[in-house]
Amino acid sequence: MKIFRDIPSIRAHLQNLSSIAFVPTMGNLHAGHLALIKQAKQLSSEVVVSIFVNRLQFLPHEDFSRYPRTIEQDCLLLEELNVNTIFIPDEKILFPTHQEFLLALPPIADTLEGKFRPGFFRGVTTIVLKLFNIIQPNLAIFGKKDYQQLYMVQEMVKQLNLPIEIIAGETVRASDGLALSSRNQYLDPSQRIEASNLYQTLLHIKKEIISNNKDFQVLQEEATQRLTELGWKVDYVQICDRASLSPACYRIEPLVVLVAAWLAKTRLIDNIEV
Ligand code: PAF
Repeated sequence: MKIFRDIPSIRAHLQNLSSIAFVPTMGNLHAGHLALIKQAKQLSSEVVVSIFVNRLQFLPHEDFSRYPRTIEQDCLLLEELNVNTIFIPDEKILFPTHQEFLLALPPIADTLEGKFRPGFFRGVTTIVLKLFNIIQPNLAIFGKKDYQQLYMVQEMVKQLNLPIEIIAGETVRASDGLALSSRNQYLDPSQRIEASNLYQTLLHIKKEIISNNKDFQVLQEEATQRLTELGWKVDYVQICDRASLSPACYRIEPLVVLVAAWLAKTRLIDNIEV
């Protein structure tokens, strides 16, 4: 396993390889990341994993400084998976000067997550584009857990004509249904038990839609009320058209239900396809 910390050395290492699968991460790897990496290994002989906590995608009051950083443990996990190439740049490598060139994004970036975390997708797409330019992968894998992020990256690749195939990885869940996330470790034991209700809420909405409940507005409101009664502060529960991620009114297209809500100081997101 080789760890690269600067751009010229990883470029030199990758330059003669014909097929590269890339899994960008912010580290603190859990079974969700490992599933993406295993998927990458099935698709390509060379897998590159990056670990970089990207300041650009955090608002000033968010958890950038307390975001869990566990590089040594991450490297052990990657070694066990036989990942050959890891890119762990520090901030001065990726941002040698103030990052003034940033992507301008379509209006969809200001909805859902973007409404509650202004600038988030600009930060994500800018770092992902920088990493793509450094690694130059043939394909890259993003988890469905961050559904809107996956959508934004797919749109960026399409509209900027990047020669990279974007592959979606399924969400990995704990046995009670909670989607795995590095932020789950902020939860105390009773919050951790409560947290499974986020997915239960999504399952309930899915069941209602499948059994032909057509009143999406009411379904969203009921779900918000139920979570609120359970002690959550809900940012959004939104039934969307999967192809555009815009709010859906009828079940004509494939749908996805997205949710974001706070349990005390921890913000969790999840989604379910219908
Ligand atoms: O999903 C993440 O971990 C991050 O948003 C990503 C894609 C690595 C960009 O920093």
